[in-house]
This record gives sequence, C-alpha cells and structure tokens, in this order.
Amino acid sequence: MKCTVLTLSLSLLPLVFGAEYLVGVGKDETTGKKGIGFDPSVIHPAVGDTIVWEFRSGQHSVVQSTFQNPCTDSGGINTGVHTVSDDLTVDAPGLPRYEVTVNSTDPLWFFDEAGGLCNKGAILAVNPTSTQTAAAFKENAAKEPASPPPSSTTGGSASESDATNAPSETSPGPSSPSNAAGKVAQSGGLLLGALSFLVFGML
Ligand SMILES: *[C@@H]1O[C@H](CO)[C@@H](O)[C@H](O)[C@H]1NC(C)=O
Repeated sequence: MKCTVLTLSLSLLPLVFGAEYLVGVGKDETTGKKGIGFDPSVIHPAVGDTIVWEFRSGQHSVVQSTFQNPCTDSGGINTGVHTVSDDLTVDAPGLPRYEVTVNSTDPLWFFDEAGGLCNKGAILAVNPTSTQTAAAFKENAAKEPASPPPSSTTGGSASESDATNAPSETSPGPSSPSNAAGKVAQSGGLLLGALSFLVFGML
C-alpha cells in the first residue's frame, strides 16, 4: 500500500514540473554577448515543457511565423516589444521574461520582429523536423524581403497587420502573467496534494 501511494505520488511529479527551455533574446548564441537573434536558436521541448524567452538587450519581440515565411507574423504567439536598458549586462538578474507552454511536438517557428534582423538569422526553430529543418528555415528567412519595423506605417499590409495585432497584443498581455500565476498556483496545489498523499500514505 505504502509502495503504491509512493509510486503514485512520484508519478505525478513530472506532470507538475515540465522542463523549462530558457532562450535568450537579443543574445548572440555564438559569442554569448548581446547581439542578433536567439540563444539557443533551435530547441526540442516536449509536450508540457515551457519555453521561457528572456529579453537580454535592446528592443526585441518574439513573434510566431511559419516555416515558409519566417519573417511574417502568422497571428500566433506575440510577446510584445520588450526594451532592456543598455546599462544592463547580458545576464543581468530580473530581465523581462515571457513564458509559453508547449502543447504538442509539432514544429513552431518564431522571429524577432522588433529587433528587425530576421533575414540575418534572428529566428528560433522549435522542434524542426527532417523535412522542415532549422537550416532550411534560415534559408527561407534570408530570402524573405526585409520586414518593416512593427511600428512603421509604410506599406498597406504592414499597417493593416499592425492594426489587427494591436488589440490582440494588449489582451493576451495582461492575461498571460495571471495565467502563469494561476498555473503556478495550480501546480503548487497539485504538488501539495501529491505530497500530503505521500505523507498520509506513510503514516
Ligand atoms: C498552449 O496552449 C495555451 C492555452 O491555450 C496557449 O496559451 C499557448 O500559447 C499554447 N502554446 C503554444 C506554444 O502554442
């Protein structure tokens, strides 16, 4: 009985703690210094894991795109623009973060819209496949015409996408932290439940 309870309690733990994939934004993955893109630029999270983007320099945003059009907002995840003071070091404590949970192992594609250097490799491949590789994603990005900065009003389609993005950007913004807080509280509750189950099982 004790064994069963213990096994059951421990088997719940992976559900509570998915792995965290910390990805620096505005940090050059080869030099480790402030720079273009994502560090690392390719990750392979599992379902239930979280991707945590940490904004490490200047002005950057992480925006979901597609394999075919790496530098075009697909209307998915958008962290909004985060600005980090030039005074802060690349690994300063308390840098702004944005977290998403991975719901499937299907590939996800992102670029740094506010940084504006998507064509130069400011892209992130999540769970690339043998047919949709990170290298091909990068080639697609290099071919795509340079996108205007997000606040630019030049070009019809750009301003149109800005207009449609503005409200969706503000609504997920405030709700995301509370979702995250809720998730932590929920996870804490689950964990407490599992632990008390374990403790009572041993008595
Ligand atoms: C996973 O689902 C949640 C809740 O619907 C959503 O907020 C989040 O953006 C999804 N994650 C990804 C990577 O799409």
